[in-house]
Amino acid sequence: MGRMAPMTETPVLAVDDLHVSYGPIGALRGCTLEVRAGETVVVVGANGAGKTTLLRAVCNMLPWTGAIRLDGAPTGRVPTHRLARQGVLHLPENRGVLTTQSVLENLQLAFDMYPPARSFADAVEEAFTHFPRLKERQQQPAGNLSGGEQQMLALARAIISPPKILLLDEPSLGLSPRMVREAYRVLGGFKARGMAILLVEQNVHAALRFADRGYVLRQGVIVRQGEADMLARDTELFNQYLGFT
Ligand SMILES: Nc1ncnc2c1ncn2[C@@H]1O[C@H](COP(=O)(O)OP(=O)(O)O)[C@@H](O)[C@H]1O
Ligand SMILES: [Mg+2]
Repeated sequence: MGRMAPMTETPVLAVDDLHVSYGPIGALRGCTLEVRAGETVVVVGANGAGKTTLLRAVCNMLPWTGAIRLDGAPTGRVPTHRLARQGVLHLPENRGVLTTQSVLENLQLAFDMYPPARSFADAVEEAFTHFPRLKERQQQPAGNLSGGEQQMLALARAIISPPKILLLDEPSLGLSPRMVREAYRVLGGFKARGMAILLVEQNVHAALRFADRGYVLRQGVIVRQGEADMLARDTELFNQYLGFT
């Protein structure tokens, strides 16, 4: 369990009545959720529920209506790259790794994205302590890494530049069971440091084990919310809203 913030504290991220449409298709239809300081929140939902759209809207990568606040400040007019500078780290579905750049160059870009509190050398040393495999392969193009190693390179960005909030799009997608466990172990370290995390996942069981609180997204609408362990015990929810057990 993460630190329980008092309800009166301004959330790190507050999303209120968010709507996103792709032409005639309403991908998000009035979503309201929040992530408080130190909290790990998961949005679970089947394929097509609107999870990726939610994270892209938070980053202002597409037009939306409603309200989004970062530490209480409306983000509506803040471009994506400025949100990154304000500490919003988005790790997208494709992991956002630049495959033609070397491992080290990818880490340098992550460092340059967000105001550093220390030298690049110190930041890289810490990342390589967590991910020795990346150290071995630092001069290689990131495209030569396995899927699991690319996920580690993506996660290393959160060590290089610890964000205000980490937005994670299906970190377990395409990974072997062993690498899924490894990714969640790394995320557990971020959580223990008090990083605010908003995770979207189809891998419901792993995500609900990891998170403090959860929301269930179905066809663009949040249909359930609550403590993650409560949601994890709710077998009816899995049948009814997620379409599997
Ligand atoms: N670029 C797009 N153009 C049109 N429809 C889209 C686009 N991206 C997503 N959608 C649709 O929006 C809905 C939500 O998609 P998405 O956010 O990717 O869901 P998830 O990440 O939960 O699988 C789906 O019905 C999907 O087909
Ligand atoms: Mg998606």
